[in-house]
Amino acid sequence: MCGIVGFTGSSPAAPVLLDGLERLEYRGYDSAGIAVVSREKGLQIQKCKGRLRTLRQRLEGIPPLEGTVGIGHTRWATHGEPNDVNSHPHVSQSGRVAIVHNGIIENYVEIKEFLLHKGVRFRSDTDSEVIAQLLDYYFTGSEDVLDAVYHVLARLEGAYALGILCTDEPERLIAARKDAPLLLGYGEGESFIASDATAIIAHTRDVAYMEDGEVAVLTPDGISVFDQYRRPVEKAHHFIQWDVSAAEKGGYAHFMFKEIMEQPEALRQTISPRLRNGEVVLDELDLTDEDLRRFQRIYLVACGSSYHVGMLGKYNLERFLRLPVEVCLASEFRYSAPLVDERSLVVVISQSGETLDSMAALREARSQGGYILSIVNVVGSSIARESDSVLYTWAGPEIAVATTKAYSTQLALLTMLGLYMARKLGRIDPAEYAAVTGELTLLPGKLETVLAGTDTYQYLASRYFNRDCVFFIGRNLDYALGLEGSLKLKEISYIHSESYAAGELKHGTISLIEPGTLVVALATYEPLFDKAVSNIVEVKSRGAEVVALTTESHRERMEKIATHTLTIPDTVTPLLPNLGVAPLQLFAYYIALQRGCDIDKPKNLAKSVTVE
Ligand code: AGP
Repeated sequence: MCGIVGFTGSSPAAPVLLDGLERLEYRGYDSAGIAVVSREKGLQIQKCKGRLRTLRQRLEGIPPLEGTVGIGHTRWATHGEPNDVNSHPHVSQSGRVAIVHNGIIENYVEIKEFLLHKGVRFRSDTDSEVIAQLLDYYFTGSEDVLDAVYHVLARLEGAYALGILCTDEPERLIAARKDAPLLLGYGEGESFIASDATAIIAHTRDVAYMEDGEVAVLTPDGISVFDQYRRPVEKAHHFIQWDVSAAEKGGYAHFMFKEIMEQPEALRQTISPRLRNGEVVLDELDLTDEDLRRFQRIYLVACGSSYHVGMLGKYNLERFLRLPVEVCLASEFRYSAPLVDERSLVVVISQSGETLDSMAALREARSQGGYILSIVNVVGSSIARESDSVLYTWAGPEIAVATTKAYSTQLALLTMLGLYMARKLGRIDPAEYAAVTGELTLLPGKLETVLAGTDTYQYLASRYFNRDCVFFIGRNLDYALGLEGSLKLKEISYIHSESYAAGELKHGTISLIEPGTLVVALATYEPLFDKAVSNIVEVKSRGAEVVALTTESHRERMEKIATHTLTIPDTVTPLLPNLGVAPLQLFAYYIALQRGCDIDKPKNLAKSVTVE
């Protein structure tokens, strides 16, 4: 996902832009650039393929860019390969307009042909460049650049978060947003735009989130916002609570490791405010008991690891509520004409709150009359703002591309939602309700014990880092947990792995098990422990090496069977995955470390996938 930062104030813009882009590096990118404008020097652009340090080297070789207004961009290529020309900012043919863009313009070919026909010469292969050229085209015909902006936006189809500079009005920075996140930052004598608060929190905590169709005009004295009909809009301000260090490594080697270790605190932040005197309290839900009784089916809709949370949630919510729960990949759900209606509760799970497939699924479900509840980590994100109710995971900013603390808090929150609904509907045995809510308060502490011992994972990594395929097997909750363990390993170590329902192995895949094959066998789900042991014996008899994960109370039995045994403290069944995921995260982390991978920014991946 691309990153945008913009500034207008009294200090030189270039350093502010570069610092902001560095804080957005975690989003993944393949090129970067900045533009600064001043009345004296006009537009000054520096952009290039590669990392920000390459851009900094370019800038060190030339006189400083002069100007106190500018825009910056980190690009994750969608249209046009990563190279200097396709990097942002894009400048119009006349050199009067520069833009940075996050999103995809779906009708750019049609617009490009129109402009080519008008004699405009394009430099890049990107969709974004049409915005700069079209602005120029309309600007020559109008007095005010804002007129041109509204003309252009009326023609664009697709998603955009835009930063716009114009040499005719060098003290102004214009921003626009539709289906791609963009926030406004209010400083003392300075104003900002950013894709997320991480980029500007060092300057201001006072932010507002742009809505679709809005246009903002920023000057050092303040920010004016207009809706799609150019009517002035009063924006609600939000105060960013977390501090700069939360978005920095804080002495850890990688953001991912930091965030693995932050999970107990993230769980405390997410659970504690919602547990009062042993009762789950979800004040954020505006659902009456009658509303809850209306729901006949629950859909859990998400992508990637958030989808894996849904896979676990199905087991727990069906257990608590005795209601059918469907887990759907957002990219499939949105095109499958889902049987959603006003009796459906649709839970959209997303760390970033900007995943395009999940947003599209949300809109599909809403169009069918479903009630939209989202579980989101980024406050004010698009999915959060388009939901009927939002449950925020208070995990703090998650910088590593591979999610850990957001996954864990999503999981705990989804379990709490199930408990809450089951209690309200009188569907859960009071003793079970008390046992689970009691264990929820102990969960962070128990997780700390799991995270205390990392030597074992470093040892296992030294033995298994050079494997080219790993199988994760498990039953019930362990099967769903294995999906996440497998994805973690794949996405940061690039080792192929598969997660299999252990009972399914004998229907084909066991043919791949041969001497030396590594199998991670998850056996924490007590009711099927004996079955899990049988599957371990099954694969070991074909020569597999087995790293088993079970609960402390089964350690002795497992150590007689598995090649290596990892354990988690005992807890109630619904909370086992919240403990079981930590060993799998550490296993993946240390293997990736051993393999020298770029752990926080794995190849080809971005922190939030805002493209199809
Ligand atoms: C998780 O480690 C991955 N980075 C990815 O699968 C992620 O979970 C997925 O893209 C969904 O993102 P979201 O939670 O922000 O919607």
